[in-house]
Amino acid sequence: MLNKLLIQGGTRLDGEIRISGAKNAVLPILAGTLLADGPTVIENVPHLHDVTTTVELLGCMGVQVVIDEKLSIEVDTSTIENHVAPYHLVKTMRSSILVLGPLLTRFGEAEVSLPGGCAIGSRPVNLHIKGLQDMGAEIEVVNGYIHARADRLKGARLVMDIVTVTGTENLMMAAALADGVTIIENAAREPEVVDLANYLNTMGAKIEGAGTDTITIEGVEKLTGTRYRVLPDRIETGTYLVAAAISGGRIKVKDTDPTLLDAVIDKLREAGAEVTCGDDWIELDMHGKRPKAVNIRTAPFPAFPTDMQAQFAALNTIAEGTSTIVETVFENRFMHVQELQRMGADIEVEGNTAIVRGVEGLTAAPVMATDLRASASLIMAGLVATGETEVQRIYHIDRGYEIIEEKLAQLGANIRRIPA
Ligand code: EPU
Repeated sequence: MLNKLLIQGGTRLDGEIRISGAKNAVLPILAGTLLADGPTVIENVPHLHDVTTTVELLGCMGVQVVIDEKLSIEVDTSTIENHVAPYHLVKTMRSSILVLGPLLTRFGEAEVSLPGGCAIGSRPVNLHIKGLQDMGAEIEVVNGYIHARADRLKGARLVMDIVTVTGTENLMMAAALADGVTIIENAAREPEVVDLANYLNTMGAKIEGAGTDTITIEGVEKLTGTRYRVLPDRIETGTYLVAAAISGGRIKVKDTDPTLLDAVIDKLREAGAEVTCGDDWIELDMHGKRPKAVNIRTAPFPAFPTDMQAQFAALNTIAEGTSTIVETVFENRFMHVQELQRMGADIEVEGNTAIVRGVEGLTAAPVMATDLRASASLIMAGLVATGETEVQRIYHIDRGYEIIEEKLAQLGANIRRIPA
């Protein structure tokens, strides 16, 4: 059923919430279960639409998936019947491409629909394909599907042209069961890549260097089922910190990991927030102040994440001063700007740069979510706008944020979900 969110702006957030498991870690890990002989249990799984889609994708192949109420999922691949990722699922979730490497390396074949267009850029998967070809796979695209075959992949030196997160993950999974050593150079260093490597290593893989730009994988004959707990979601964490900051409020986020958010926390402090961190919590207090404008330049980890750009754009709209936001990862990730303008924001976009002149306040308007993080930024704006903001097409937000309206309500926000 289609829903929308209604937000009555103006409440200063104050309270505590728990952070869920990371979407961008659980998706590759669920794809990685295809590598295991024997059942795997994944813990701290967030309740998200993208997780449901991944479970459906595995189910389509005949894989048995049992979802437990206590945030865990058990996957048993022994019943697998086919190695196909169909178009109707890949088109709704591009990260379905993550089954390509595991299927090919374990079963010798894979048929994965080629992902189509995307709201934030063209997002090709050429580097996933080239890496697998360099490992000896035969790949052709027929009728919109990537058909990949290989008796056994061979270890290779893979030099990535561009830093790609899911590309690095796909190739790392393929290499885990390949014959010989694979070296991925210019690898993505994102914490979710490290989490996947840790998971694969608990299954018996031999992966070193995850978290640096050179990952070395010594292929093994077989990987076995295991139990693994997914790391906390750093983007969900950052989003709630921004929500508190934009409202001038205070928040304590628990069950998170502050070491994953250095660049984001630096920017929040620059914006005037007082931030204190413990082992698994972060507290932010804005003391009722208006934020100061902060310049942002997105880039691969450990630099400022593109997945936090839209939320900081919202923060800057009401900040004191003018800021520049440069998006270097995706070519078209400013779809939230036009919606923010409808709420009174003063933003100018030229190429990959947005110039935001802070205004005193925003006014509520009906707005439309275009992608996951854009939706988050519209909710942030709604929290401070005068009047009732209506955010439509929130199925985007349900892909990546677990019960966002409940968590925000827990912090005192006046927000509710109603049928669209
Ligand atoms: N690219 C290529 N060729 C490829 C692969 C990537 O040209 O074969 C380009 C992309 O077009 C883009 C750049 O490389 O310009 C980086 O893209 P990357 O491959 O790193 O993105 P991704 O792996 O598709 C993941 C996250 C995204 C996040 C990006 C960047 C998952 C499931 N998705 O996407 O998350 O924005 O890395 O950090 O891990 C989100 O959660 O909202 C989201 C979009």
